[in-house]
Amino acid sequence: MLNVTNLTVEIRENKQSYEVLSDISLSVEKNQTLGLVGESGCGKSMIASSIMGLLRKNKRITAGSIYLDDTDLTKYSEKEYEQIRGTKLSMIFQDSMASLNPLIKIGKQIEEAYKIHYKLTKSELKNKVNNSLADVGFKNTPNTINNIDNIINKYPHNLSGGQRQRVMIAIAIACNPQYLIADEPTTALDVTTQNKILNLIKNIQEKNNMGIIFISHDITVINNLCTHIGVMYAGKIVEYGKTYDIIKDPKHPYTKALIQSIPNTDNKNKPLTAIDGFVPALNERKNSECIFYDRCKDRTDKCKAEIKDVQIDNNRKVSCTLYY
Ligand SMILES: Nc1ncnc2c1ncn2[C@@H]1O[C@H](COP(=O)(O)OP(=O)(O)OP(=O)(O)O)[C@@H](O)[C@H]1O
Ligand SMILES: [Mg+2]
Repeated sequence: MLNVTNLTVEIRENKQSYEVLSDISLSVEKNQTLGLVGESGCGKSMIASSIMGLLRKNKRITAGSIYLDDTDLTKYSEKEYEQIRGTKLSMIFQDSMASLNPLIKIGKQIEEAYKIHYKLTKSELKNKVNNSLADVGFKNTPNTINNIDNIINKYPHNLSGGQRQRVMIAIAIACNPQYLIADEPTTALDVTTQNKILNLIKNIQEKNNMGIIFISHDITVINNLCTHIGVMYAGKIVEYGKTYDIIKDPKHPYTKALIQSIPNTDNKNKPLTAIDGFVPALNERKNSECIFYDRCKDRTDKCKAEIKDVQIDNNRKVSCTLYY
């Protein structure tokens, strides 16, 4: 099980520290998919980097733990992390163009993923690369433009966005990871390609029994794919539970607003509900009141005090004064 408890991360800028993640708790088991949803800037990618041990420079974990089975990864050195990245934990990044090396051919980049963890002969490597490209839907039909032999010799910029995303998936799952973090893997893609990629991730999960953390700002995608949801707002998880429960009966005013902003063909003539205002910037966040206060339709004076997490029923949590 991958289990994050009370994780707090700070960013230091201009000699000031800001809490970018506050008291994050979540967990995912094999075969489960936890969706993290929330507006841009709420800290979704920061959770991913924290779990992957990729916080750099001005960011650091100041409290909490990240347990992978029995080990606390917050205690890991970079060397120890290198041992588990790819095999136990793996990640598909938000921006395929930025994460693939533009100067190295696709085949070589996939080879690298295997070479870090396995000692293989040249022909074994070639086989692995071919199989992994086949696993993500590339065909080995001779004389076609995008057959595997062809793709192997291309550079990232020669591929379409969807093809690049499939290559990223091939790299991420090369060494059969137990847990995969997919950070907005389909945001830049058209809906048809998006669905193909999502189905691909689902199929791989079924085959490998992976646990997945799936990050998206699109609650419709999360609803289709995930067994559990964590709704994030300004560095906090404000609601957490099973997908079915949350979509059927959202509790937090922010979750309600997110669900109401989904376009719905039944009320075509009604305007879409947008949530007024913006996520507060790091230097505007106060821990002394509800983080959603300024934008909340249901706010009362009670929300001006520090907010507690409430356990509603088994494994459902919400941070809102409406429930205590
Ligand atoms: N290097 C950095 N220095 C300072 N602040 C940063 C840095 N990287 C991220 N942030 C801030 O941290 C917060 C969380 O960012 P993060 O990238 O995790 O958001 P996100 O939810 O993934 O957003 P998006 O949906 O746009 O990808 C944001 O307020 C962002 O401005
Ligand atoms: Mg992000």
